[in-house]
Amino acid sequence: MKPFDVYPLYDIEPVKARGSYVWDDKGTRYLDLYGGHAVISIGHAHPHYVEKLTDQLGKIGFYSNSVRISMQDELAAKLGELSGYEDYALFLCNSGAEANENALKLASFHNGRKKVIAFTKGFHGRTAGAVAITDNASIVAPVNPRDHVQFVPFNDAGALEAAMSDEISAVIVEGIQGVGGIHVASEDFLRRARAACDRYGAALILDSVQCGYGRSGKFFSHQYAGIHPDLITTAKGMGNGFPVGGVLISPRFKAVHGMLGTTFGGNHLACAAAIAVLDVIKAENLVRNAAEVGAYLAEGVRGLPGVKEVRGRGLMIGIEMEEPAEPLRKTLLYDEHVFTGAAGKHTIRLLPSLALGREDAALFLEKFRAVLQQAPVRG
Ligand SMILES: Cc1ncc(COP(=O)(O)O)c(C=O)c1O
Repeated sequence: MKPFDVYPLYDIEPVKARGSYVWDDKGTRYLDLYGGHAVISIGHAHPHYVEKLTDQLGKIGFYSNSVRISMQDELAAKLGELSGYEDYALFLCNSGAEANENALKLASFHNGRKKVIAFTKGFHGRTAGAVAITDNASIVAPVNPRDHVQFVPFNDAGALEAAMSDEISAVIVEGIQGVGGIHVASEDFLRRARAACDRYGAALILDSVQCGYGRSGKFFSHQYAGIHPDLITTAKGMGNGFPVGGVLISPRFKAVHGMLGTTFGGNHLACAAAIAVLDVIKAENLVRNAAEVGAYLAEGVRGLPGVKEVRGRGLMIGIEMEEPAEPLRKTLLYDEHVFTGAAGKHTIRLLPSLALGREDAALFLEKFRAVLQQAPVRG
């Protein structure tokens, strides 16, 4: 048997990683400005994280949600404190798509409605409910019904207000679109979305899977707009590589035994990973670091030759190039040994660890400038 071949691969095999660096099987060191799709939040192999997980593995790795797992209480309390959502409840699952599925279900259970408003260029995952609200027809299969979904232009508050009705169960939006190209939801748009949901009794869901967990320079990027969503979904950086997802749920949703459930969500190892991440975010002031190093990085890139626009917040940065970005990214990877991400044809996506140091950012800028000065060498 072989792996199902759905991923176009770079011919590199990382075998070791520390902080913002990874090493391949030939001993070459790479600067990691991508964190494996925004997953590495506190840095690779952080000692506190390794110790917490190793220690937990030797005690108890898993038991189901039929027994008391007090680490879930500890995780929820710490997340409430750091995010400022102390009065919300936490439902734990395993991925971003699953978090969005559960958020959509909670909204629908709550208001008894079916219709969902999502936005152009939005990405919410690949399971049936999540892919239906994702604006990419090429990944939607006939088995994923989406006749209940209406797509509205992103950042167009007037269009959203016009689309609202008392049939809408939920409005789901990313605080900063990631896959769609690093587009920040404007503060006015988010505030008017909040007001429109209040007016029509719909739930406002902020998909914070990519823009969440301190990356934007606030714990959640929607906090720049000062709004409180009804449901906030998170995953990626939550476990620094261990699969953990979650839904933060406003107190107006009442829990009923059996309404949601999962085998793996909230297991001991997942909780150990997620608690370690929050401990490090707090102890090392990583939300502030993301704001400061992110601003330095964005400023350093702005105005470089071939750079059309720099978007994002904190350490979620989109660099839109005048020319297609892929040859540049390949040169960065194979010649300069820097991992970056892409969004669409022209945008380079930077999603490094929140612990990225200023000297690491400076090293990236040096390498990026060097690559821009030479003609693209890889097709
Ligand atoms: C905004 C957003 N939501 C949801 C998801 C899906 O997360 P997962 O791949 O963990 O299911 C992603 C993944 O890229 C994402 O960027």
